[in-house]
Amino acid sequence: MLLHFLLLGAFVFQAECYFSEEKYPEESKMQPPTVVIAIIARNTAHSLPYYLGALERLNYPKDRISVWAATDHNSDNTTAILKEWLTVMQKFYHYVEWRPMDKPTSYAGELGPKHWPNSRYEYVMKLKQAALNFARKRWADYILYADTDNILTNPDTLNLMIAENKSVIAPMLDSQGAVLQLLGYYRRTAEYFPTRHRHRTGCFPVPMVHSTMLLDLRKEGMKKLAFYPPHEDYSWPYDDIIVFAFSCRAAEVQSYLCNKQRYGYLNIPAKPHHTLEDDRLNFVHVQLESMIDGPPMHPSRYVHMFPKQRDLMGFDEIYLINLRRRSDRRDRMLFSLNELEIDVKMVDMQMDKALVFEDDVRFQANFKRRVLRLMEEVEQVELDWDIM
Ligand SMILES: *[C@@H]1O[C@H](CO)[C@@H](O)[C@H](O)[C@H]1NC(C)=O
Ligand SMILES: *[C@@H]1O[C@H](CO)[C@@H](O)[C@H](O)[C@H]1NC(C)=O
Repeated sequence: MLLHFLLLGAFVFQAECYFSEEKYPEESKMQPPTVVIAIIARNTAHSLPYYLGALERLNYPKDRISVWAATDHNSDNTTAILKEWLTVMQKFYHYVEWRPMDKPTSYAGELGPKHWPNSRYEYVMKLKQAALNFARKRWADYILYADTDNILTNPDTLNLMIAENKSVIAPMLDSQGAVLQLLGYYRRTAEYFPTRHRHRTGCFPVPMVHSTMLLDLRKEGMKKLAFYPPHEDYSWPYDDIIVFAFSCRAAEVQSYLCNKQRYGYLNIPAKPHHTLEDDRLNFVHVQLESMIDGPPMHPSRYVHMFPKQRDLMGFDEIYLINLRRRSDRRDRMLFSLNELEIDVKMVDMQMDKALVFEDDVRFQANFKRRVLRLMEEVEQVELDWDIM
């Protein structure tokens, strides 16, 4: 009886829709463009958890993204970390192409893991081309290249770059002391400093982009672009950045660099003789900087992180003094000291102002009155002080 009633109900409802002339569904929304993210990873175990964390937090539907990931010539744990992440994440992305290569662990003639002999440039150019071929074959609308020490901490970066409607566009990333993407050819121009410090903001035509860049593969001119083999007229050094810049020029495609917002951070490239440990320490510094200027870096939740081995650097004790109401400062300092592997004791202070004596002070005459007077003056001029 109940079943009967329900069926009847359903029929009446349907009939209304069928015979009404006013009720029809609206056209549904367009889906966002399809994107291939190219990950080319080598000896990057220290930055990879943060890099992948930033990728997974991009505000972009993952089912419209395919990931093309290659890793090779590693002497650290890069392959295992990337594999761990892809294993969890592949169900969210539209498609994942995984190209690991265990051997060899270095390039012939290499001074160290951070050196770029020609064989390495050539191999990276081939990888970038392979990613581009993959994206073209799958008719992806965009391909995003992002080096694995470029941390796109602003989750809107991909959308913001797409919204600019450019063929080749790069977000300006901040780094220790310099904006590397503006260096080289651009550094000598008058625009360098205002652009770097964001006194002049926008999306500007530049002779070359690298590190992180988005290519719009739907544009006609993009059909001719290539990383490998270099253009037949190319006669400069073997360098993937310059080869690509030359290819853009030959195809009459203009590259743009945007600094409208903070998009993220990049590590300064290591010198040829640097070790992976040097590179890791540089990266820790960039990480600490990101805590100050923001948006800060966070590691992926899907990558295992080992706890840091903190020590006292040879001191008997290291103290961190914190006013309890400034929990933001406490959090930043504890995070930073952990990254630096420094062990501290917290000294909580339930107060606004504190006077600290060392135990060997020789008091001036009128010490107390002088300090009181000093504090009065400080209050009068409303000085904003932390430590005096
Ligand atoms: C390498 O990374 C994997 C995945 O995160 C982890 O399980 C493994 O313990 C790591 N090995 C070393 C030597 O760090
Ligand atoms: C990009 O194109 C879209 C759609 O044609 C348009 O609405 C938008 O204003 C364009 N953006 C810029 C920065 O030109």
